[in-house]
Amino acid sequence: MVPQHVPVMVKESVTALNIRPHGRYVDGTLGGGGHAEAILEAAEGTRLLGIDLDGDALDAATVRLSSYGDRVSLVRANFGDVRSIVHDHIGSLVDGIFLDLGLSSMQLDTGERGFSFRREAQLDMRFDSRQRATAHEVVNRYSVESLSDVIARLGEEPRARRIAREIVANRPIRTTTQLAEVVRRATGRPARGRIHPATRTFQAIRMEVNREMDNLTRGLEGAIEVLNAGGRLAVISYHSLEDRLVKQKLRAESSDCICPPGLPQCVCGHKASLRLVNRRVIRPSIDEVQANPRARSARMRVAERI
Ligand SMILES: C[S@@+](CC[C@H](N)C(=O)[O-])C[C@H]1O[C@@H](n2cnc3c(N)ncnc32)[C@H](O)[C@@H]1O
Repeated sequence: MVPQHVPVMVKESVTALNIRPHGRYVDGTLGGGGHAEAILEAAEGTRLLGIDLDGDALDAATVRLSSYGDRVSLVRANFGDVRSIVHDHIGSLVDGIFLDLGLSSMQLDTGERGFSFRREAQLDMRFDSRQRATAHEVVNRYSVESLSDVIARLGEEPRARRIAREIVANRPIRTTTQLAEVVRRATGRPARGRIHPATRTFQAIRMEVNREMDNLTRGLEGAIEVLNAGGRLAVISYHSLEDRLVKQKLRAESSDCICPPGLPQCVCGHKASLRLVNRRVIRPSIDEVQANPRARSARMRVAERI
């Protein structure tokens, strides 16, 4: 059976996007199409452009959204290119852009994709199977320094250096479970317990393989450029690094001055292009976290184009 993905903070997302009848919306991380369907249901005649890099996600969403006919178009592409995608597929500005970052349960639970340390598989972890670089290259070709940097920066793993050395000493590493065991040994922590010792390392390698921070940076830039005045950008992150990036970008773009602190007067000439809709981050309810533990780390930020 194909694993299902339970979408996170659906009601909050629809409210955040302030969906208008006949508006045009972009879901940059379509996945199984749960949020996309909620956007299409939220008001009469909304149109949706759904983007995902993952062919399996697009297949699942195509089936789920088939009853909406020509209100929906789906493209296999990178949301980092949202500006040109909107230009090519819509040809005008849009009323809302939604991003629900990271990977879906469908991807995590499909063992052969290599995202999970709990399932034996080749080291893959690509969102897009057309891409050449896989987790195998990162694990088996990066220098100790580069690996250590990836694991420390993207995994926020305090034992990154030791883990990187252990990985290099045990090459070649071919499978997820081999990698998980090497990391576990390096951390000296048992595999039992709530959080497996390889969790942060797997997350870091996945983010490196898929260039997730770069794509997010480009996606936020592009999204701001293709939003109509009054259009909303809503982003759900599950990782503190991503949330920080979103927070800083939305803060900077909602400010009339981005000069370094301490200058006697503004020299940057920056003009705000956004208004923050919520000063504080939006978190899922306790009930949602109880029903769907994956929602636990979700944080949503919302801004409006001015
Ligand atoms: C958390 S899931 C989204 C789930 C979706 N909201 C739903 O309701 O099913 C994230 C999705 O974003 C996709 N993705 C990640 N980075 C991407 C990128 N740069 N461009 C396009 N899709 C991306 C992944 O393949 C995955 O399907």
